[in-house]
Amino acid sequence: MPYYTKLGQIPQKRHVQFRRPDGALYSEEVFGTEGFVGPTTTMYHIHPPTQVSGWKTLYSTKVEYAETDVMRMRHVKSAPLKPKGDMVTGRVVLFGNSDCEMAVCNPAEQMGYHYKNGQGDECIFVHFGSGTVYTMMGTIKFGPKDYVVIPKGVIYKWVWDKRTQAKEGEPPVEQMPFGKFLLIETTNGSHIGPPPRYVSKHTSQFLEHAPYCERDLRLPELPLTFDERGDFEVRIKARDRVHSYIYHYHPLDVVGWDGCYYPFAFNIDDFSPITGKLHMPPPIHQTFEAHNFVICSFCPRMLDWHPNAIKVPYNHSNLDSDEVLYYVEGNFGSRKGIEVGSLTAHPQGIPHGPHPGTIEASLDAKYTGELAVMCDTFRPLYPTKAALELDDPKYTDSWQGEHFPGIKGGRITTNSVGPMHNADGTHANGHANGHANGVATGGKVADVWAP
Ligand SMILES: [Fe+2]
Repeated sequence: MPYYTKLGQIPQKRHVQFRRPDGALYSEEVFGTEGFVGPTTTMYHIHPPTQVSGWKTLYSTKVEYAETDVMRMRHVKSAPLKPKGDMVTGRVVLFGNSDCEMAVCNPAEQMGYHYKNGQGDECIFVHFGSGTVYTMMGTIKFGPKDYVVIPKGVIYKWVWDKRTQAKEGEPPVEQMPFGKFLLIETTNGSHIGPPPRYVSKHTSQFLEHAPYCERDLRLPELPLTFDERGDFEVRIKARDRVHSYIYHYHPLDVVGWDGCYYPFAFNIDDFSPITGKLHMPPPIHQTFEAHNFVICSFCPRMLDWHPNAIKVPYNHSNLDSDEVLYYVEGNFGSRKGIEVGSLTAHPQGIPHGPHPGTIEASLDAKYTGELAVMCDTFRPLYPTKAALELDDPKYTDSWQGEHFPGIKGGRITTNSVGPMHNADGTHANGHANGHANGVATGGKVADVWAP
């Protein structure tokens, strides 16, 4: 995180005597990044954080990719994933590369231990479910559509609220006992934060053009300190393995901290979309970034208002990026086969854009209710075996078909065809306009407005 904050008790100066009520010294720990020149937080523990024992290696987390030499568009349906494991062991990696991994998780049980990802930052997008994450820097309550960003090295325990009944649009409790999330995790050692262009170079304050600001971020709160003795397991992910360590005190024993490195939550509904007279490019949806990838939020928003605007994204080649979209909410019926929980992957080598029929059908729409999370990477993404098992092989054919069925072949010739629309913006080709506000009225309106 870019800006300074603090929680709990800290001494007036760094690196000075700071004593517990019993007279012993608190144990200061400097939690530094990038060789102590990046964002840093200084914490004060009740117990020396070095007192750990009983380490053993539990299991490998090394991801094995499949079809690394195959480049094609993919559609992976994550909705059928059955509950398994906890919020760490139940993660199913679907795509990744040497910069990030993308996983989905539908856990079957609560965590029985604390966890530290010593390998990468975690950006957890909570699709369904709510609860509390207890971290060494304080407590964050989370709910549906929250991004929860937990930086590398922060010890935490994720506690779900048990679901008792499904709200409208949610999977039944037996199919999803606690909740579900999408996880984007760094594998290149970089950190997830806001794009640098959103914040002041001088003060790190969020600037006026940013689609969110400090007020939208939910920082750790009290309770912070758990002063308990006993044997506490902390599982640490590092070197593509999860290791088990035993702490002889509660690992969340910090009484205070200050600095710029801490977990936080941000609800995607607090993202204020930037809209335009004509189609705005994907970077205006950017929410976070790390080295070699970005995370974007495609939220409900007003659509382009030029009288002749084409509302759906133009065909495009994002020549330096692979693109994965996770569909959260909305009517995706016009993108064939897409459903809530679907992920689509579009590799850099293939242009993509509107599905057949969706451009004309969408011209009068004023608003889109779509909600999707996108991760664009600058290096090729590879699917895992799990992704292939959930793959919809028909997706690549979904762009086949007549885009403009109302126009007979031969009518469009270069340098001779007139405008497609009358001067007042109405259609010149007689195509029926039966849609408004992104709601289908019997035709194929496009509700996938994300690129
Ligand atoms: Fe795209």
